[in-house]
Amino acid sequence: MALRAGAREHGTGPMTSFGIGVIGCGNISNQYLKNLSAFPDVEVLICADLDAGRAEAQAAAYGIPSWGSPQDALGHPDVQLIVNLTVPAAHAEVTGAAIAAGKHVWSEKPLTLDIATGRALLEAAKAGNVRVGCAPDTVLGAGVQSARRLIDSGAIGTPLTALTLLQGPGPQSWHPDPEFLFAPGAGPLFDLGPYYLSVLATLFGPANRVAAVGRKPRESRVIGAGPRAGTLFDVAVPTYVAALAEYEAGQAASLLFSWDSPLSRAGFVEITGTEATLAVPDPNRFGGDLRVRHAGDDDWTVIPSQGAEAGRGSGVVDMVRAIRAGTPHRADGEMALHVLEMMTAIERSAVSAAFEPVLTRFAVPASLDAGWDPYVAAN
Ligand SMILES: NC(=O)c1ccc[n+]([C@@H]2O[C@H](COP(=O)([O-])OP(=O)(O)OC[C@H]3O[C@@H](n4cnc5c(N)ncnc54)[C@H](O)[C@@H]3O)[C@@H](O)[C@H]2O)c1
Repeated sequence: MALRAGAREHGTGPMTSFGIGVIGCGNISNQYLKNLSAFPDVEVLICADLDAGRAEAQAAAYGIPSWGSPQDALGHPDVQLIVNLTVPAAHAEVTGAAIAAGKHVWSEKPLTLDIATGRALLEAAKAGNVRVGCAPDTVLGAGVQSARRLIDSGAIGTPLTALTLLQGPGPQSWHPDPEFLFAPGAGPLFDLGPYYLSVLATLFGPANRVAAVGRKPRESRVIGAGPRAGTLFDVAVPTYVAALAEYEAGQAASLLFSWDSPLSRAGFVEITGTEATLAVPDPNRFGGDLRVRHAGDDDWTVIPSQGAEAGRGSGVVDMVRAIRAGTPHRADGEMALHVLEMMTAIERSAVSAAFEPVLTRFAVPASLDAGWDPYVAAN
């Protein structure tokens, strides 16, 4: 482990904030490091990556006191929680190593690539008395939480159905290293499905069966941005997935995930109840207005969302506060495992052409109060 120049030594005095180690210092680490550095309940103590240069650069950019290898983060005496921002194929290895080191873990999505590995990780965490939380924490943002509170208030009646839409040309146009987004564990279903499926999990609870069709029209794509622009790479997973889901509480959903359209349309989540349709803000964002439409209305009624629009890392703060309070955290590993099972079942159905069961269950977390704010210390 190396200390950043000018950094103070840790472990020498009482710490009020929860010690965090970030493993994986790529693209998304910018958002996490910016936010986690601004949330007073937590303190990032070390940046780690297989690529030491990336860890050092991110520590310098965000004023993190030290940097090093994944082992350095796992062995850091003041790190209580590992934030796993590695690529999906490395999630299980890094989360498993963190649990084995006695650390709580927040993982980027998906939790793992398969259910058996995800289940084993959650069991290991339970046995080790540490917690696992998993992205997306956009479900804790003002937009989705305001939608949850509105539905709970009965404003749209009994929720019956959902319609979601995500389409565009694909992330090879902007991501400098997009190969992993077209490898097993990604594609539009696994990369963006967690946002849409987690919103429906938050609003409807667990699903019990799914069906789907999938397509892979192009076997390769070309990187469109960054130093490797022009590089051809293979596509391993379907890039068009249309799915149906049935929920235990009776709701039905139609979902489209496509990276095969030149037309970008995203963030479309409509919930129709017995009294009205609610347009939920983009599930890949933390804020946004709600829109409600009753039968006979000429237009939407816009309802501003209420609450902090903090951003990625909010789930880490909710988890840290829940650990300290001894209460359940909201973006929990069990919900992530259910979302993962839905995605693997959707993938299977696209091959089997039959409905596939979804067997995992989770406790629907309590909604957040509109006054919840990760920028203000909890105590
Ligand atoms: N980029 C985005 O906009 C975005 C948004 C939301 C979520 N995510 C999720 O965040 C995760 C990371 O995405 P990214 O875009 O930052 O990827 P990236 O490729 O830019 O960065 C991943 C980093 O992890 C490191 N790494 C890989 N395996 C490792 C291992 N075993 N141990 C330690 N470090 C390892 C790599 O060296 C790299 O620096 C993915 O799960 C992705 O789904 C990304």
